[in-house]
Amino acid sequence: MRRLSASLAAVALACVASATWAQKTASDGIAEYRAMLQDGNPADLFEAKGEDLWKQARGPKKNKLTQCDLGKGPGVVKGAWVEMPRYFADTQKVQDLESRLLTCMETLQGFDAEQIRNTPYGQGEQATITALATWVAAESKGMAFKLPQTHAEEKRMFDLGKKLFFVRAGTHDFACATCHSQEGKRIRLQDLPNLTTKAGAGSGFGAWPAYRVSNGQMWGMQLRLNDCYRQQRFPYAVFGNEASTALSVYLGVTAEGVATTAPAIRR
Ligand code: HEC
Repeated sequence: MRRLSASLAAVALACVASATWAQKTASDGIAEYRAMLQDGNPADLFEAKGEDLWKQARGPKKNKLTQCDLGKGPGVVKGAWVEMPRYFADTQKVQDLESRLLTCMETLQGFDAEQIRNTPYGQGEQATITALATWVAAESKGMAFKLPQTHAEEKRMFDLGKKLFFVRAGTHDFACATCHSQEGKRIRLQDLPNLTTKAGAGSGFGAWPAYRVSNGQMWGMQLRLNDCYRQQRFPYAVFGNEASTALSVYLGVTAEGVATTAPAIRR
């Protein structure tokens, strides 16, 4: 009897040990997989397309985007992404990179912004915005986030974003925080970054636009957040909505000082 319980204990111990081992290798495996994919990231193709689109005369006005003001003056691209979302005096709004690009397409090129906003994500001119955002973000690669928080609207949007991150609602009573406020969590084989910390927000927010291997698509932050809203069982979030922009302000400010890796590659 003594012998039997001893061997049962040994079996139990072995099970615990192998479970811990499996957990560790899964996370390590994801890190390894991401590192391998980083070599030859198809995001490079979208980046090249974005640069080309920036310099092309397009839209009803047959104009280029080279005078687009991304917050650092007309035509200044380098360093713009790590300071967005930010307040723009002409629209009197805090805008993220993607909705700012849409404003430039409207004012400089004469596109119908409302119509593009209502186009499904990734289709038509929305694909143009994703490619442009990929290029603009890439021009700041390695630079540290330093979102401005001087304008009253920028502060309001930070507070709103923080509130939205923790608010629980919907059929499952989920908040962003339900999935993204603890260390070492994952769903199946996907790491869930703790977005309430500087490092977590830096790597999670600072990676997008990213190329998604699982569906072979390039996703901007607007679509990333829309898909998380879907996982949260929240209603469809229209492109450029205030809630997504506010969440981006919260994440971007939290990531202050962390270097951006966008455009990255993800599962
Ligand atoms: C039901 C769980 C769940 C909820 C709720 C959720 N997410 Fe996510 N989130 C995920 C999963 C799964 C991923 C994908 C991770 C991967 O593929 O590497 C993800 C990825 C992300 C990423 C990119 C992380 C990275 O490293 O690339 C960000 C940013 C993010 N979510 C923000 C949010 C925000 C903001 C909210 C609230 C509006 C939210 N999420 C709600 C599950 C969730």
